[in-house]
Amino acid sequence: MADRELHLDDARAMDELGGRIAAQVRIGDVIALDGGLGAGKTTLARGILKALGLESEAPSPSFAIVQPYDVPEVRLPVTHVDLYRLDGPEHTAELALGEYLADSLLIVEWPDRLGARLWPHSLRLHIAVDTDNGRRLTADVPDAWTERWSQI
Ligand SMILES: Nc1ncnc2c1ncn2[C@@H]1O[C@H](COP(=O)(O)OP(=O)(O)OP(=O)(O)O)[C@@H](O)[C@H]1O
Ligand SMILES: [Mg+2]
Repeated sequence: MADRELHLDDARAMDELGGRIAAQVRIGDVIALDGGLGAGKTTLARGILKALGLESEAPSPSFAIVQPYDVPEVRLPVTHVDLYRLDGPEHTAELALGEYLADSLLIVEWPDRLGARLWPHSLRLHIAVDTDNGRRLTADVPDAWTERWSQI
């Protein structure tokens, strides 16, 4: 059973955590990845995508903002977004991200840009650099994930 607080020694541990999360995801889920520049958000998103079958390394969506993946390159459709460059909830509203929930898993870097629009059923993972240069991940687990997080 995964603790709500995990220590991830290196990028490989982050990648492996992505694999365990990928085993639990469903269409309509939101995984919100919080944490400063270089925290490891994209590394975790790549781990999820890789475990869902993506063979090439996922690009960081910091410029594309919205990067969709579809079957068959992944076994479940994924929308990977990076909101860093957006100024706030007024701008993110234009992206109509909610529409992606109907048929994909949504992975959101910089979810703070959504403000109160972040969906309550989101699994919020906060990543921070730890003293040993590894990472500390704190999970904010909604009801939709309680059972599943216990499998991770
Ligand atoms: N658990 C970890 N321990 C140590 N280094 C890590 C860990 N996870 C990721 N890294 C490293 O941290 C660096 C930044 O990772 P990444 O690009 O995933 O961060 P990010 O949060 O997406 O950054 P940005 O805000 O710029 O998008 C990479 O070199 C990655 O290998
Ligand atoms: Mg990133």
